[in-house]
Amino acid sequence: MSLKEKIDPARLPRHIAIIMDGNGRWAKQKGRLRVFGHQNGVLAVRDTVESAAELGIKYLTLYAFSTENWNRPKFEVNALMELLVGTIRKETKTLTDNNIRLQAIGNLDSLPSGCRKELKEAMDLTAGNTRMTLVLALSYSSKWEIIQAVKKIAEGVSSKEISADRIDESLFNSFLCTANFPDPELLIRTSGEQRVSNFLLWQIAYSELYFTEKLWPDFRKEDLYEAILDYQRRERRFGKTSEQIAS
Ligand code: IPE
Ligand code: IPE
Ligand code: MG
Repeated sequence: MSLKEKIDPARLPRHIAIIMDGNGRWAKQKGRLRVFGHQNGVLAVRDTVESAAELGIKYLTLYAFSTENWNRPKFEVNALMELLVGTIRKETKTLTDNNIRLQAIGNLDSLPSGCRKELKEAMDLTAGNTRMTLVLALSYSSKWEIIQAVKKIAEGVSSKEISADRIDESLFNSFLCTANFPDPELLIRTSGEQRVSNFLLWQIAYSELYFTEKLWPDFRKEDLYEAILDYQRRERRFGKTSEQIAS
């Protein structure tokens, strides 16, 4: 039985989020520049998107660039932005052919204008696609997202559009960039680091976390299957007891 066949299609996570980490170390191991790792990371993105869609995953969120990543050397930031623009341009047709909708979360206004334009075009072109939603987290950080939600809610309260006693989880959620997506059931991080790095802090409150030593450019379909199988072996209790879950 192949790994893929072992996956129970009835218990798939609806939403998988991935912290794609380890491009730089992958390149370094090969005696190459970090940018070479990012270029090869694109191949892993392609494989992962394809396999997630094939399996029937409805939402796939990829952490591609964090707010903190702006602090990297200018050369690397520029290379990442160019790679992003080039990849979106090249892959939009494949997304359309595969009925995949592209969305983005993060402080998109902070992206270079060429990048924003390419992104908007791809999102518009794929807006009606229904098989899977691919969400790119770009210039994203969870604390930024939470602060901007708090600001908007505070404005709503002071203009009397929102009454303070109406503020609950659901209202707060509606002010996040992820308002239209369910929370991820599974969060994967590659490269052996076991941290969350300011990613979806609110949304992963009850996600299953999966860490793999694989560096992102080496991540392939089989690795996604492994992660999903691991997820399917877990018991999600949401505060209840094991006995309650079984009955
Ligand atoms: C992930 O790989 C890609 C981005 C954060 C943009 P890294 O570039 O962080 O690679 P490492 O962690 O330094 O190996
Ligand atoms: C997290 O990776 C951000 C992305 C994958 C885009 P980093 O490599 O930036 O994370 P830290 O700083 O090592 O935690
Ligand atoms: Mg890293």
